[in-house]
Amino acid sequence: MLQEGFLIKIAIVSMFISTGWSRPKTKDDSENGDTDAEIEPLIIDRGPYFDKTASRNVTALVGKTTYLNCRIRNLGNRTVSWIRHRDLHLLTVGRSTYTSDQRFTSIHNPMTEDWTLQVRYPQRRDSGVYECQVGTTPPIGFSMSLSVVEPITTLLGGPEMYINKGSTMNLTCIVKHSPEPPPTIYWTHNMEEINYDSPRGGVSVITEKGDITFSYLLVQRARDSDSGKYTCNPSNANPKTVIVHVLNGEHPAAMQHGGQLRLEYPFSACLLSVLVAVAGP
Ligand SMILES: *[C@@H]1O[C@H](CO)[C@@H](O)[C@H](O)[C@H]1NC(C)=O
Ligand SMILES: *[C@@H]1O[C@H](CO)[C@@H](O)[C@H](O)[C@H]1NC(C)=O
Ligand SMILES: *[C@@H]1O[C@H](CO)[C@@H](O)[C@H](O)[C@H]1NC(C)=O
Repeated sequence: MLQEGFLIKIAIVSMFISTGWSRPKTKDDSENGDTDAEIEPLIIDRGPYFDKTASRNVTALVGKTTYLNCRIRNLGNRTVSWIRHRDLHLLTVGRSTYTSDQRFTSIHNPMTEDWTLQVRYPQRRDSGVYECQVGTTPPIGFSMSLSVVEPITTLLGGPEMYINKGSTMNLTCIVKHSPEPPPTIYWTHNMEEINYDSPRGGVSVITEKGDITFSYLLVQRARDSDSGKYTCNPSNANPKTVIVHVLNGEHPAAMQHGGQLRLEYPFSACLLSVLVAVAGP
């Protein structure tokens, strides 16, 4: 009780001497919840605190400007700094960039309580923990985790593919490690965007978006003119190319590439049904 009275007293005192530099948080404030709750109404300036509802995990794409946002209530005129945990480097102080790495900038709109660290051209090595720190005594901080990812595109069966004339060409493009599915994926044949309504007909694309995105380019009844260079271009990942050879005759040996057989062989269907028959009851 005695201690409580004392705390109330210092709370009142701090109310009167309240300068922008808030009353430093005493040990009791943080450790004794009850006391804090009781005296709270008396304290006008309880000091800055973080809005902890914001997400602490930020995923960014390599090379694409990203933002770590820190929302601070009741900041007063205290200074906000951003610190990189990996090397305890001070990146920004207030609105100035402190590091020689000019990719880091602190953004603050005085109409808001947000102090945002902007990272331009993020690289994989920028992944890690960043802390937004407020210059109270002692300082208080809010840590956020940045992961910089690089989406990877693969085209199954590449870099060269052999298919039989008349069969269905099925090119499968896969995009992994993308923070969000690629908004669009377009395909080209010999550098020209594929037109799915062309008079040739039988050309279609199926895209399944998700953590891993799949895009299938299907060309029915492959003909000589379908040979060439096919490229899958996801809007947020690197493109991938495959060279397709449409074969006229029977060249089974040529159809094997790198140990991979990518073909609708007429007889592979037979083989499959044989296997099914064997496996069946
Ligand atoms: C903060 O504001 C108070 C007055 O409100 C002033 O006395 C103090 O020097 C200021 N501190 C800084 C760091 O600007
Ligand atoms: C944030 O990342 C950490 C570590 O990488 C993980 O443990 C945590 O579950 C993540 N939180 C959310 C909300 O994704
Ligand atoms: C195309 O190939 C992929 C991967 O091999 C397969 O999952 C998909 O079902 C095929 N689509 C068609 C229409 O054959």
